[in-house]
Amino acid sequence: METRPATMKKVHIKSFGCQMNVYDGQRMADILSEQGYEETATPEGADLILLNTCHIRDRAVQKVYTELGKLRDLKVAQKANGQHTKIVVAGCVAQAEGAEIQRRQPAVDLVVGPQAYHRLPALLAEAASRRTVDTDLPIDDKFGHLPPPTPKAIRQRGISAFVTVQEGCDKFCAFCVVPYTRGAEFSRPVAQIMTEIERLAASGVQDVTLIGQNVNAYHGEGPGGAVWGLARLMQRVAEVPGIGRIRYTTSHPRDMADDLIAAHRDLPQLMPFLHLPVQAGSDRILAAMNRKHTADEYRRLIERIRAARPDIALSSDFIVGFPGESDSDFEDTLRLVDEVGFASSYSFKYSPRPGTPAADLGEQVVPAVMSERLLRLQERIEHHRQAFNHAMVGRTVEVLLERVGRHPGQLAGKTPYLQAVQIETESNQIGDRVQVVIERAGSNSLFGRKAGPDEVPSKELAA
Ligand code: 5AD
Ligand code: SF4
Repeated sequence: METRPATMKKVHIKSFGCQMNVYDGQRMADILSEQGYEETATPEGADLILLNTCHIRDRAVQKVYTELGKLRDLKVAQKANGQHTKIVVAGCVAQAEGAEIQRRQPAVDLVVGPQAYHRLPALLAEAASRRTVDTDLPIDDKFGHLPPPTPKAIRQRGISAFVTVQEGCDKFCAFCVVPYTRGAEFSRPVAQIMTEIERLAASGVQDVTLIGQNVNAYHGEGPGGAVWGLARLMQRVAEVPGIGRIRYTTSHPRDMADDLIAAHRDLPQLMPFLHLPVQAGSDRILAAMNRKHTADEYRRLIERIRAARPDIALSSDFIVGFPGESDSDFEDTLRLVDEVGFASSYSFKYSPRPGTPAADLGEQVVPAVMSERLLRLQERIEHHRQAFNHAMVGRTVEVLLERVGRHPGQLAGKTPYLQAVQIETESNQIGDRVQVVIERAGSNSLFGRKAGPDEVPSKELAA
């Protein structure tokens, strides 16, 4: 074990919610590492505890307050042992609730919004003498102020990495807090993203997921001041030595540009998986949600994407019980699910978020109806997920090995379609890309064996 200098302080970071928060958590760890903090997996014994929060649904917010209650007790207990623990709330709850957090939980020392965390060192110094809140949504580029991760930190995080390329959203879906908590759309400049990805690749990252709340709206500044879209950015990322797999998430149907669809046909490193939330299958509800597309427009878009990449695996988010959703609206959603046959999907009960237009709508759907609809929807989603996974059995696919498996002698990785696979192998290591014959589909993982030399990869799955 490495010995750490006596001066090293410990920080525990817990991220809730989306992948952007996971990324932000890592970047905060990078900043704090420059301040002499090393990460620790548990809150016990930490000098600094940072909750990186999610505001998307009410349940997510309640989780934060429950967690803060436990951390207050820990802070009191550690103080009795002579250790001063600081509690920081970052992320979208910090942005939305601001000083209210410290009113509800006085043990919190610092509240820092998602656009202000590059100022963490100064804010922590300020918080040493008084409780501090910074939830400005400044125009200045926080990414330009963040230290890069060290090669050691990159290696510890593994061969797959998220890279935020875009933040914020201008779509204003009627249910969603994101335009208020993360602010207006912002795209990082191409050069800055490329420097980050080249650095990741140099330390062993092979698989990058470009992330943003509305990532396919990406329009960053390229060389010579030209504006680059996501497809062009991904072509450039594909040229980085070592980067074998590229994905992007989350996308809005209205921003699936022609060149982005074509990239699914032309760019071998772009994996055949697309998370493209539709939210609902009824045009009346889609209009009330301000989604800016109809169910048929979504269906036609899927047809075009499948024409470009026939084996693509699709996934979506769904909300049940949006205000005014009737039985027949809900049936439209089930029909869309059955028609598209998503490889996986997330589904949620509608949760009214203060400050969003939908929160003021009448006709809120009663909880019992919402629960019943969610169950029915999840049953259909699960049916299609299992069908997609079972269709893999007998096929040969490339698996990128990412970690040790569940049992000794096993390694675990992902198919191009983002399915988890476990294989028995003595001769491989993490980071290898191997051809695997899928032998069995479990409920959450596929199981396979290394393909022999005459077992050729299966190019296209039956859609
Ligand atoms: N209630 C329920 N689900 C929501 N989502 C966003 N806002 C809400 C809300 N108020 C879901 C959407 C989105 C995903 C990230 O969370 O489906 O795509
Ligand atoms: Fe929220 Fe996504 Fe709609 Fe933007 S596109 S408002 S992030 S649901």
